[in-house]
Amino acid sequence: MTNNNLYQFHGSEYRHLKNIPRKLLYKEFLNTGFILFRDFEDIESDLISFTDEFTLRYAKDTNRRETRLGNENIKNVDIGNKEIKLHSEASFAPSWPEILWFFCKKPSEKDGNTTFCDAVKLWNSLEKDTKVFFLGNPIKYVLSLPIDIKKKSKGKKKWFLEEIGASDVSLNWETSSLEMNLLRFGVTECRFTNKLSFSNHLLVDLESEPQILSRTLANNQKIPQDIMEEISEKSSKLTFTSNWKKGDLAMLDNKRFLHGRESFKEGSERDIVLVQTLKAKI
Ligand SMILES: [Fe+2]
Repeated sequence: MTNNNLYQFHGSEYRHLKNIPRKLLYKEFLNTGFILFRDFEDIESDLISFTDEFTLRYAKDTNRRETRLGNENIKNVDIGNKEIKLHSEASFAPSWPEILWFFCKKPSEKDGNTTFCDAVKLWNSLEKDTKVFFLGNPIKYVLSLPIDIKKKSKGKKKWFLEEIGASDVSLNWETSSLEMNLLRFGVTECRFTNKLSFSNHLLVDLESEPQILSRTLANNQKIPQDIMEEISEKSSKLTFTSNWKKGDLAMLDNKRFLHGRESFKEGSERDIVLVQTLKAKI
């Protein structure tokens, strides 16, 4: 990775994940919010037993993603080869994961790196007026979240969802989806560091996120253009790329680090899988 603030554990020192001193691992994760594990042996077969150590509950991912490596908690990353701009995974949804685990089975030959950005640094870099704007103005996401409904019925039904910021929640039997408006601030407090972080879904193109039908301020107005330009410019200055090596595992605080993807050549065999810890044990 091309960022010297990240902490790396190396297989040449520890060989297997189980040999890493847990106290050190926890300390570095809490400090940096991002750990790269490189050149370990058998990381693929150890993956879920390792993530289990840090996980109280896994996220039930959208059913658009295929299950991988024989475990329902390991999924493909988003399909396609287009660029995906920076976002915090599912930051618009009631189930917002706390830790993401990216495992690189095969990097693409060229391009197709995962991009990352420390959203604590991004928040700290914003103009004071921009901070005032986001501290006082929640974002309204209009959502249609696919869900597994066993029993089929017809039409829409009002639904009770105990989620702060949720309104107009309904279950749509026709489309097997949960629909709602969700108010959520663009800035949040990190779960592990208590620092403020600009973790949200404001930069990503809505075409890459079909669950978001619209994204505005609470009063249905757009975010002012100059503010969008500032966050776009400052986030790209802070963005670094994964430079994946086969067998790499990245562990990141999803409420602190944004991620995205560079585009890559169609037909490339890039193979990266994702595990999402909804509630962490740390
Ligand atoms: Fe993502």
